[in-house]
Amino acid sequence: MLNRRSFLGSAALAGGLAALPDAALAGLPPEVPLPSPDLHARDEDAYWAALRRQFLIPADVVNLNVGTVGSSPRPVLKAIFDGYEQTEQMTQAKSEDYPIWGYDRWDEYRRPFADFMGARVDQLALLRNCTEANSYIANGFDMKAGDEVLISDEEHGSGEMPWMLRSRRYGIVVRKFAMPKPPKDAAEILSRINDAITTRTRIIFVSHVSTTTGVVLPIREIAALARAKGIVTAVDGAHVPGMMAVDLNALGCDLYTGSMHKWLFAPKGTGFLYLRDEAIMDRVWSTIVTGGYDNPDRKADRYMQIGSSCIPTLMGLNAAVALAGQIGMDRIEQRGRMLADYIHAQMLERGAQSWTSPDPALRCAIVTVNVPPVSRMELQDWLWTNHKVRVRGGEPSKLRLATPYFLSKADIDRFLTLFDRFRAMKGMA
Ligand SMILES: Cc1ncc(COP(=O)(O)O)c(C=O)c1O
Repeated sequence: MLNRRSFLGSAALAGGLAALPDAALAGLPPEVPLPSPDLHARDEDAYWAALRRQFLIPADVVNLNVGTVGSSPRPVLKAIFDGYEQTEQMTQAKSEDYPIWGYDRWDEYRRPFADFMGARVDQLALLRNCTEANSYIANGFDMKAGDEVLISDEEHGSGEMPWMLRSRRYGIVVRKFAMPKPPKDAAEILSRINDAITTRTRIIFVSHVSTTTGVVLPIREIAALARAKGIVTAVDGAHVPGMMAVDLNALGCDLYTGSMHKWLFAPKGTGFLYLRDEAIMDRVWSTIVTGGYDNPDRKADRYMQIGSSCIPTLMGLNAAVALAGQIGMDRIEQRGRMLADYIHAQMLERGAQSWTSPDPALRCAIVTVNVPPVSRMELQDWLWTNHKVRVRGGEPSKLRLATPYFLSKADIDRFLTLFDRFRAMKGMA
């Protein structure tokens, strides 16, 4: 097995290669200082505007869809570029050190993210996206033909399809419950889950934030309900890191996955799998393996033995975690909620039908509305092609509007004005 690597001790850094050559940063805009934390108290708009300038997204672009993928701001990009600069010299300190992850523990990258998510480092494996982590669960969870997984009817393809594959290949049964649209409270969701549980249910797999509606599911209560019946709970938290403050160990679920490239603005190619304890690790076989996969002493680290992968990506992840920590997750969540509530109220005033829960505990920074007879695809194309405003939705008339902290009310007003203009143009107003 390879030894633990330490680039910080490398000859390259000791030799003072901190400064990057101009070419490496040529694509980055000039460095803008991060706003000081006290600016928030003095002038909130100025604070968020200063953070907006960290992003390479042009000033005239309004991005209401980080729900698909985020954009890494300057401090994250700098960490990635610096990472390549350091690692590609191949001057690591020890003879067994190489610039790859996928064969070792890499606690210096796991620990900051684990702390950020309220988990211990040995509960968390860094993977390459949420799809990969969901596949680890569906592929690896110990089940036999006829055993059931219970999922909602709002799972992303990356949550549902791994179970469908297992079902077709090995005969497990995928049962679905219908989410209320919208749910009026947590009890309504819990009662649908309770009604759908059978004596064959082995695992419940649901999203924490629904990709279809943005509804935040009551995970703590779902996990408690499942545990009382001896059922495992697995949660797809693709949208959670960087959108909502979360404490994984307080949630009580057994398994949890997510993406860091969406709301946390970490590099593309970052995802994770959380496993609560050794009892659940004993029930989840790994999927991509190399030496070390079957060593229980390695705890969650054994799920990240995935072969040669990219260290600068993890350096970018650390920078993204540090940036979110510097701003503060409470502040980020509050900002996202405020903007989401604003756009939601404005759309309701325009007669939109909401799939966003009226219960504030069941929503955060994604709202969804239906706006018939508007064709969402036609509107989406028109907004992006003609006006540099990016939204996404579903057929025929659903809009999913995501509100990351770097947006302003003025950005949202621009979208609203364009929405009104589109409807007037089509004779729908
Ligand atoms: C709920 C949910 N799960 C999984 C995914 C897939 O995430 P990734 O691209 O990180 O694999 C998405 C992507 O939008 C999602 O919304």
